[in-house]
Amino acid sequence: MPTLVLDAAALEKLVSAAVAAPSIHNSQPWRFRLDPATSTVEVQADRSRAVPAADPQGRALHISVGAAVLNLRVAARHLGWAPEVRLLPDPAEPDLFAAVRLDAPATAPVPGNDRLFEAIWRRHSSRAPFTGEPVPAAVLDELGGAARAEDAALHLPDHTETARLLHLTAEAERRNTTDPAQRDESRSWIRTGDTPPYGIPVSALGPQDAAGHLPMRDFSAIRAAEHQTPALFEREPRIAVLTTDHDTPQDWLRAGIALQHVLLVATVHGVRASLLHQAMEWPHLRWEARDPHQRPGYVQILMRLGYGPEGAPTPRLAAGEVLEAGSA
Ligand SMILES: Cc1cc2nc3c(=O)[nH]c(=O)nc-3n(C[C@H](O)[C@H](O)[C@H](O)COP(=O)(O)O)c2cc1C
Repeated sequence: MPTLVLDAAALEKLVSAAVAAPSIHNSQPWRFRLDPATSTVEVQADRSRAVPAADPQGRALHISVGAAVLNLRVAARHLGWAPEVRLLPDPAEPDLFAAVRLDAPATAPVPGNDRLFEAIWRRHSSRAPFTGEPVPAAVLDELGGAARAEDAALHLPDHTETARLLHLTAEAERRNTTDPAQRDESRSWIRTGDTPPYGIPVSALGPQDAAGHLPMRDFSAIRAAEHQTPALFEREPRIAVLTTDHDTPQDWLRAGIALQHVLLVATVHGVRASLLHQAMEWPHLRWEARDPHQRPGYVQILMRLGYGPEGAPTPRLAAGEVLEAGSA
């Protein structure tokens, strides 16, 4: 095996993989720094691209950065390291969300990791209607295993519970499109030209459900220019609910790591996903989203899984733009 060196080329590969992660409104709220003395890649929050109206606590910001940490871990393993990930390693530096130490080569490949690495580049949110073909139980089991591996849980609500969760999401969506702060913030993240390299391009937006069952997020908040003609969505959507046992910033990071692990496994199986985060943005609705029949848990995000079009790519800041000067 060739000697592993954490040089500029390796660092660029690692950071490029990390930034391919999903983030709320494609805000990409992260920065990276190399500590050469300890061979550690530090992942920091970049609050200049926070979304305060939708995410006043920074919970979704942590989830987004957690997703980038998972990609970084997968990429590091792919390149031959045995990464050691520490979350919130320094209480004196609260915006240092993770430290990924890369000073040891892997003794053996982690099964399935290379398929996850390939999926990093193919995964896109898919906001189009799905075919309605059910996701096989074996694949759903594997997705649950991916969440558990990261100290989270993935619940699969039945028909009645799905209807209840979609009802809460619809109520949140109504508030998001009418609350002036939420509405203006959401619209400001829609990208109509080639710049800036963050936000959501119009090509990646989707229609609303003509039947009114699936409250897909309307980023335009019913602004005519980007509001698409409604389309019919799958009648029985497969919703999955990601929960954690506690609700600290560390749990939010873990939720992001678990979310991205689940999404990459789904991508490996050709399963598309879009996220339904609206109800998480209103404390009372988020609380209501807890399923009293399940073991106690904090709902972190809802996802919709199925088969359909791949979803359009969204832009990313280049590795050099999010890597602190002097790191490479
Ligand atoms: C915490 C979080 C919340 C999100 N909420 C939503 C949502 O409510 N609706 C939606 O369509 N996409 C949602 N997304 C997906 C992002 O919009 C998407 O990841 C981003 O635009 C980048 O696109 P990509 O996933 O195709 O790479 C969310 C992502 C994260 C990490």
